Amino acid sequence: MPAVEAKGAAGHGIRRAVVPAAGLGTRLLPATRAIPKELLPVGDRPVIQHVAEELAANGIEDVLLVTRRGKDAIVDHFDTGAAGLGFTAVRQAEPRGLGDAVLCAETWAAGRPFVVALGDAVLSAYGQSTIAGPRPASIVARLAQAFERADAVAAIAVEAVPREQASRYGMVGAAGPAPAPGEAFEVSALVEKPAPGQAPGELAVAARYVLSPAIFAALRETPPGAGGELQLTDAIARLAQARGRVVGVRLAADERRHDVGDLGSYLRAATEFALTHPEHGAGARARASELLDGDRPG
Ligand code: UTP
Repeated sequence: MPAVEAKGAAGHGIRRAVVPAAGLGTRLLPATRAIPKELLPVGDRPVIQHVAEELAANGIEDVLLVTRRGKDAIVDHFDTGAAGLGFTAVRQAEPRGLGDAVLCAETWAAGRPFVVALGDAVLSAYGQSTIAGPRPASIVARLAQAFERADAVAAIAVEAVPREQASRYGMVGAAGPAPAPGEAFEVSALVEKPAPGQAPGELAVAARYVLSPAIFAALRETPPGAGGELQLTDAIARLAQARGRVVGVRLAADERRHDVGDLGSYLRAATEFALTHPEHGAGARARASELLDGDRPG
């Protein structure tokens, strides 16, 4: 079997994606008491279906869902498939962090590079899911291309965030000048949830990665980090220290990452997809403008 797959229509040879969806979802309680956050609807479909369709549109053929106790409904959702993808599921025994969830994919990855797409993050462009309408390759395909071009150990999607929010994210520093929207760049530093003033820049990791299988050894060597969890960011930083090349790709100006595990971000995503829905958007926009004009139920 060749180590590098032939490039497909999406312009890269990566066919597998891991979708971690085993988190606790505590920030969305009480909504997530019985329903996984990944199954909450955004527009007309659950969050994780947006993720699956985005992956299919970016050249991915097989998805590994990482779930846990109480989250089998995610696997049920894909019983009849979606977007022509193949689905496999694995269970994370305890929620020990995103790095631990990725470690569950080692056998399945079969020694090849793979995508990681967080199951609770929706990407949109111009108010539409990245699958809607003809668009240039979206972030996953661009990450995979940058990864292959640079012969990297990791490629990470990033977006700019206000400095005061840096302590919520994995933060990335650029080796050269700060990249413009859409640009690829060399990553020089990675810090998970930095203390105030310690962020290496204003770029935050944005829920999509391409990783070399070298990540598994790095994860096993990485001690628990922020929050006592095994952090994927820390393992990527370890690969970078061992002289592996890590590239970043900044989201394009019209691309947005919505982390639906955060209530404010979930509500913004749901609003965006409601207002731009092909059939029901007009009604949602009409009601929104009534509310903005001060029409409140009496
Ligand atoms: P979060 O940081 O949002 O954690 O995970 P969480 O546990 O889901 O949410 P809160 O903090 O309790 O509200 C980011 C991503 O990593 C996955 C989550 O499912 C989400 O896609 N994850 C996190 C796992 O798969 N396993 C874990 O142990 C932790």
